[in-house]
Amino acid sequence: MKFFVDTADVAAIKELNDHGMVDGVTTNPSLILKSGRDIAEVTREICELVEGPVSAEVVSPTADEMIREGRHLAKIADNITVKVPLTWDGLKACRVLSDEGRMVNVTLCFSAAQAILAAKAGATFISPFIGRLDDIHLDGMDLIADIREIYDNYGYKTQILAASIRSVNHIVEAAKIGADVITSPPSVIKSMVSHPLTDKGLAQFDADWKATGQKIG
Ligand code: E4P
Repeated sequence: MKFFVDTADVAAIKELNDHGMVDGVTTNPSLILKSGRDIAEVTREICELVEGPVSAEVVSPTADEMIREGRHLAKIADNITVKVPLTWDGLKACRVLSDEGRMVNVTLCFSAAQAILAAKAGATFISPFIGRLDDIHLDGMDLIADIREIYDNYGYKTQILAASIRSVNHIVEAAKIGADVITSPPSVIKSMVSHPLTDKGLAQFDADWKATGQKIG
């Protein structure tokens, strides 16, 4: 499973990247706002840091405008993935940009029907939003399972990028279902390391080692 980091915080990306945890990055207008940075500047910086795909999102409503914005964003670096919304216009933009050989991430997916359209439009990634479905008392993980089954039925190459991740369980469940990628806030990826028995075991080893009076090296 590939790990994308869902942030425009360069320091946080660098920290995870130094641990080998970053296969790509996703951003969106809200994350750019949160970063307080210029989109072109911060996206370029992220692309220099990370080898894998870096999603940068278009913001206009019509296909023509999305295509123009997508081509503009793609000039930032070779690893840019143009992110388009799951609208009728977004699907047209996906088809055109994908036919030009660009990576496209179709975002804001909330149904299996939408995911089928994205695959047919040539999306490189489909982003089903787990957390936001959970927020309205639906099971976001059911959507990941449905898309996996459908894509496998027909051999669609579009990669399932499980998004709107809020917990470690989301990541583990998405992995069990076979999502190709998760995109997660850095804090959730870091919290995957925590286990009380690891802490307890380490404290015991530490105490016992001190009692030996020995040193290594
Ligand atoms: C995905 O690409 C989105 O940027 C992101 O996962 C949205 O997550 P949120 O629902 O926590 O805003």
